[in-house]
Amino acid sequence: MTERSARDWLVVQDVTKDFKGLRALDAVRVGLERGEILGLIGPNGSGKTTLINVITGVLPPTSGGITACGRDITGLPSFKIARAGIARTFQTVRLFRDLTVGENIEVAALSVGKSRRAARRAAEEAIDELGIAHWTDEFASVLPYGDERRVEVARALAMTPDFLLLDEPAAGLNEQESEDLLRILAPIPTRRNLGMLIVDHDMHLIMRLCDRLHVLNYGRTIGAGEPAEVRRIPAVIEAYLGSAAEEGRDAPA
Ligand SMILES: Nc1ncnc2c1ncn2[C@@H]1O[C@H](COP(=O)(O)OP(=O)(O)OP(=O)(O)O)[C@@H](O)[C@H]1O
Ligand SMILES: [Mg+2]
Repeated sequence: MTERSARDWLVVQDVTKDFKGLRALDAVRVGLERGEILGLIGPNGSGKTTLINVITGVLPPTSGGITACGRDITGLPSFKIARAGIARTFQTVRLFRDLTVGENIEVAALSVGKSRRAARRAAEEAIDELGIAHWTDEFASVLPYGDERRVEVARALAMTPDFLLLDEPAAGLNEQESEDLLRILAPIPTRRNLGMLIVDHDMHLIMRLCDRLHVLNYGRTIGAGEPAEVRRIPAVIEAYLGSAAEEGRDAPA
């Protein structure tokens, strides 16, 4: 990879993560390029959240390294990784319930070192993009669940990241809410020139949204490539997609 192209990539190099006797990630290699959507999928406990935690500095890797835009970020504390251009959302919603929606989003922008003015502008853009302007002045505690999930994404976007990692953003949403979220998320990587990694168990959403997929099982990569290829890999079908995908019910091409 040339130095110039390295600037467009988040690269996970042979990352292994052990928890007392359990290998949660085993020599995982993944690249995420600006402008693309990569789906990270696999059964419960396969290591998806752990990979996001290791990339974002919530957990140190046992071995291996991570570079963002050509810069080694391995082992940095999370706030430095956020400032290096990597934002994430959590599998369970984490908002400040005593702050308004607007304040929740602005605080995220301030946390990566933006001035008050820049933070306000970044927050406004993210609010528009997620279609939650009508909630700006309401306390986060009054939000319906589906809108909480949107606020989470808006918080991450207000940090104006180069790479956005979304851990099950559609979890708990009904079909219509998932569909709306998909429409909102799909254009973001191109519009903002950022790389988006999305973890979700909703194969209908994943197959339509993602340019590429990466599949984990017991911390190991068992498939990677374009969605149409990956859904035909026998190990992926056996470990995760099951008969539904073979029959094309939950995983349309
Ligand atoms: N902090 C931790 N300490 C010990 N074990 C952990 C820790 N975090 C995760 N694990 C274990 O590591 C494995 C991978 O967990 P992880 O949460 O990454 O899975 P996941 O793919 O995100 O699953 P899900 O789809 O259910 O969210 C599991 O066996 C889990 O119990
Ligand atoms: Mg998880």
